[in-house]
Amino acid sequence: MTPIKNCILNRDTSFNPIWLMRQAGRYLPEFREIRKKNTNFIKLCLDSKLSEEITLQPIERFDFDAAIIFSDILMIPYGLGQEVEFKKNFGPNLGNIDLDKFEKLNDEFLTNKLSPIYDLLKNLSKNEKVKNKDLIGFVGAPWTLLVYMINKVSPKSGLSNSFFKNTTLINNLLNILDKFIKLHIKNQVRAGATIIQIFDSWAGLIKTDFDKYLYKPTLSLVDYTKNLGVPVICFPRGIKNYVEFSKIVKPNMINIDYNTDPKKLIDDIDIPIQGGLDPKILLTDRNNLKTQTRKYLEIFNNHPYVFNLGHGILPETKIEMVEELVRVVRDFK
Ligand code: CP3
Repeated sequence: MTPIKNCILNRDTSFNPIWLMRQAGRYLPEFREIRKKNTNFIKLCLDSKLSEEITLQPIERFDFDAAIIFSDILMIPYGLGQEVEFKKNFGPNLGNIDLDKFEKLNDEFLTNKLSPIYDLLKNLSKNEKVKNKDLIGFVGAPWTLLVYMINKVSPKSGLSNSFFKNTTLINNLLNILDKFIKLHIKNQVRAGATIIQIFDSWAGLIKTDFDKYLYKPTLSLVDYTKNLGVPVICFPRGIKNYVEFSKIVKPNMINIDYNTDPKKLIDDIDIPIQGGLDPKILLTDRNNLKTQTRKYLEIFNNHPYVFNLGHGILPETKIEMVEELVRVVRDFK
């Protein structure tokens, strides 16, 4: 059985698998090399040959236990026909929403538009380099996609009240997202994803109506994925209550962020846990990295635990520090 599935399904604590969020990304010189020649990020995500090469880059360097496909959560808004652009040093920039158009879309439209992502998974499933490793497919949670689709840029300074003004728009979009995110999950699983991770990067911005924006839409996706026979990991970044989330949504594994004190939740969360380490620790020194990494490994010594970070690895991270991190995790047990 693949390492993460073994941790999740057999609750094996004798080994801590390791992979890193954004492991295929800008901290890798070989990624930057490809990126320099491919200025259109969406086009790069839809080039199944190059996206396979990028997916495998961190595996070749660090032999991580899982490969996460090189793609983006914003491929769904793109697949629905909303313009999505990535500007250098700015992040994503989305175009206007045409709700009438979204409502008329059928499954084939999105499946066709995103077919290179499914080709990528089919090719990876046959690739010897990831044999015996988990192949992680992923989606953005409805809330986080709603945030990008309506706000159009990353809400770095929070959301204004006007965000919530148009309830018809919000309610309709939530329905549309539920339908098409499920389709994207099903397509990834059929193409070979062995695990699905749901990224809810802006969950911390939800202040009221947790049922409407967080619990109900995420539970719907979690139940759907479980029914496909594939384990599902949730990462509701920035929420205050991971214990309550785990009890209500019941994913197969929960990824915690770096503001969460792992000691406080270990006794109250029964499901396997992933992640936690602050990615900024990788910018400090080896000794500190070792101490902070071992802290997580010790706390979760007897709890099914997959080593990962509390958010994506930072572009300025040095390769040597990632090598050191992998060594510390592998040497622990
Ligand atoms: O983890 C991996 O290695 C797989 C690939 C992956 C990417 N994005 C590639 C990417 C994954 C899992 C994502 C998820 C994603 N995308 C999230 C959820 C996780 C998180 O970070 O909170 C979000 C919010 C997005 C949307 C997105 N895509 C943003 C905000 C940005 C710009 C951020 C930045 O750091 O500039 C992206 C671009 C992006 N997605 C890059 C990569 C490697 C950088 C692209 C570049 O080269 O400029």
